Amino acid sequence: MRTCYAGQVSEKLLDQTVTLMGWAHRRRDHGGVIFIDLRDREGLVQVVCDPDRPDMFKVAEDVRSEFCLKIVGKVRARPAGTENANLVSGKVEVLCHEIEVLNPSVPIPFQIDEDNLSETTRLTHRVLDLRRPYMQNNLMLRYKVAMEVRKFLDEHGFVDIETPMLTKSTPEGARDYLVPSRVHDGHFFALPQSPQLFKQLLMVAGFDRYYQITKCFRDEDLRADRQPEFTQIDIETSFLTEEEIRSMFEGMIRHVFRKTMNVELGDYPVMKYAEAMHRFGSDKPDLRVKLEFTELTDAMTTVDFKVFSGPATTPGGRVVALRVPGGAAMSRGEIDAYTEFVKIYGAKGLAWIKVNEVAKGREGLQSPIVKNLHDEAVAEVLKRTGAQDGDLLFFGADKAKIVNDAIGALRLKIGHSEFGKAAGLFDDRWAPLWVVDFPMFEFDDEANRWNAVHHPFTAPKDGHEDFMTTDPGKCVAKAYDMVLNGWELGGGSVRIHRAEVQAKVFDALNIGPEDQRIKFGFLLDALQYGAPPHGGLAFGLDRLVTLMTKAESIRDVIAFPKTQRAQCLLTGAPSLVDEKQLRELHIRLRNVQPAAQ
Ligand code: AMO
Ligand code: AMP
Repeated sequence: MRTCYAGQVSEKLLDQTVTLMGWAHRRRDHGGVIFIDLRDREGLVQVVCDPDRPDMFKVAEDVRSEFCLKIVGKVRARPAGTENANLVSGKVEVLCHEIEVLNPSVPIPFQIDEDNLSETTRLTHRVLDLRRPYMQNNLMLRYKVAMEVRKFLDEHGFVDIETPMLTKSTPEGARDYLVPSRVHDGHFFALPQSPQLFKQLLMVAGFDRYYQITKCFRDEDLRADRQPEFTQIDIETSFLTEEEIRSMFEGMIRHVFRKTMNVELGDYPVMKYAEAMHRFGSDKPDLRVKLEFTELTDAMTTVDFKVFSGPATTPGGRVVALRVPGGAAMSRGEIDAYTEFVKIYGAKGLAWIKVNEVAKGREGLQSPIVKNLHDEAVAEVLKRTGAQDGDLLFFGADKAKIVNDAIGALRLKIGHSEFGKAAGLFDDRWAPLWVVDFPMFEFDDEANRWNAVHHPFTAPKDGHEDFMTTDPGKCVAKAYDMVLNGWELGGGSVRIHRAEVQAKVFDALNIGPEDQRIKFGFLLDALQYGAPPHGGLAFGLDRLVTLMTKAESIRDVIAFPKTQRAQCLLTGAPSLVDEKQLRELHIRLRNVQPAAQ
C-alpha cells in the first residue's frame, strides 16, 4: 500500500509519485489551498491540496486533526522561502492527487504538539500522548538501546534465559508485590524484585554467561527515577574477576552510546565508596558539578561554637565546608533560600562565610559565625578550602548522614542552578564513573541490626571474611555501581559461591538457621554442588534511556508507566475485584467493600 514513510520524503524523491499513510497533524486552510501536515512515526511532510482536483479537495476540506489518511501525490520542491530546515522533508512537499480517510477521529482533547500538558492528561490519554514525536523518539531510542545491548551480549557469549515471574520473595530491600495462590489457601507468590537468585542458580547449572532484559517489581516510595515495575538489563557470568566484569560492562555502555547516539564516552574513573562520600557526600556523585566538600571535622573540635564543636567531637559526626567560587555575589535572600532547602534533608541550619578579601584574614570575611571561631580554625578553613576573594563558603555540621545528604544536595542544587552554570561550576558532558568497595553492611539504628548494603549474596573482599563476625562495619564488599551524571545506572557484585560463607553473612544479618532454610534453602543447597565463582550486575534500562534522551522523568521513556501514586491512569489499575474472585483466592478484605457484582 505505502511507498515510503511520510517523515522520509525528501528531495531524493523529487517528481516521484508516493503513497503515504499517516495522521493529520495539522490542517491549515489558506483560502483556496489546504495544507495538511501528514505525520507518521518517522516525522512530518507537508501535503498540498489544490481545489483543481475537486473530488480530492472536498475530502481534504473535511479532514480534521488526527484523522488517519492515505495520500497519493507527487513530490515537488517547496517554493523558495518556505523551506523548513528542521524537517527531513523540509525542502519538499507532496502535491496531493488522491486522499482517502482511512478512519476519522473524534475531536481530540489536546493538540498533539501542545507543550506543558499536565502529566495526568498525558497519562490518561496515553495513546494520543504516545503519538507525539517526543514520545515516539524516546521509545525508538529505547528499542535501539535494547537491540545494541542484545548484540553486544550475544557477541560476548551471553545467553538469554527467562526466569519466573511467579516466585518467592527476593531480598532487594523493597516491599514485594504479592500474588495470592488459588490452589494453595493462604499462600502467596511474590513478583520478583530482580532475578538475582535464579541467575545465580543458572551459574551453578553451568550456563556460564546469562542475560535477560526483564521486568522487576518493587513496592517502594516512588521518585522521578523510580517505577514500581521497571526493566533491568540483568547479567551474570562465571569465572570473571570484579575488574573483568567492570571492564566488560563499561565496554557495553560505551558500545550502546556509540551505536545509538554516536557519542564516545570519555574518562571512566573508578572511585572508592569512601572517597565518593568524603568528596561529594554521595555514592552516586554527579561529576559534572565542579564543587567538592572540604573536611573540617578535626579542625573544629575546640571552637567555641557548639553547632560545629558538637558534631566534631561526637562519634559519627561530621563538619564540612562547600566552597562556591564567585558565590559572595549571592544575596541574603538566595542564602536564606538555600538554608530552607537543606532543611529538607534534616540540616538544622546553613552557616556561611563570604570571602571578601582573603589577605585581610578574619577582617576580610563577612559571616554570622566567624566571631565564634578562633584564629587557628579560621586559618584552617581558609587554607583547606583554598578560598579566594569573592567565594562563598557554606558549612554543614551534624551526624555524617545529615551532612552528606544536605550538603550533597546543596552541591547539586548550586551546580545545576543558573548561577552555577554562569559561574562555570557545571560541565555539560557525559560523566560516568564506577563506585567500588562499598561497605558490606550498614547499621539500622531503628531496627538495631545490620543490613546488607547491596544484597546478602555479595562476597566480602578477600581477607575481610572475619570482620563479618568481629566488626561488620569494617567489612568491605566486592560490590560496584555504575553512575552516570549523578544517577545510579547499574549495580552488582561478585557473589558468594561457598555455602559456609553465605551462612556467615546470614548470621551477620541475624537471619537464623531456620529462616535461612525457609527463605534460601534452595540457594544454600545449590551452592554445595561445586558452584563456580560468579558475579554480575544489573542496569536500569529505563534510567539509561531517560539519561540518554534527557527526559525529565523515567515515565517519559516507558510506554505505559504508573503515576507517582503507583496507578495506571489509562486502564484504571489497580481496581477493585468482585467477591467471587476474592472467595476463590481465599481472601477477605478488612476495610474495603469488594466491587459490586
Ligand atoms: P539494584 O537493586 O541495584 O540491583 O538494581 C539494579 C538497577 O536497577 C535500576 N532500578 C530501578 N529503576 C527504576 N525503578 C526502580 N524502582 C528501580 N530500582 C532499581 C537501577 C539500579 O542500578 N540484583 C541486583 C543486581 C545484581 O547484583 O546483579 C539488583 O537488582 O538502575
Ligand atoms: P545559630 O547559632 O543556631 O543561630 O546558628 C548560627 C549559624 O549557623 C546560622 O547561619 C545557622 O544557619 C547555622 N547553623 C545552625 N545549625 C547548623 C548546622 N547543623 N550546620 C551548619 N550550619 C548550622
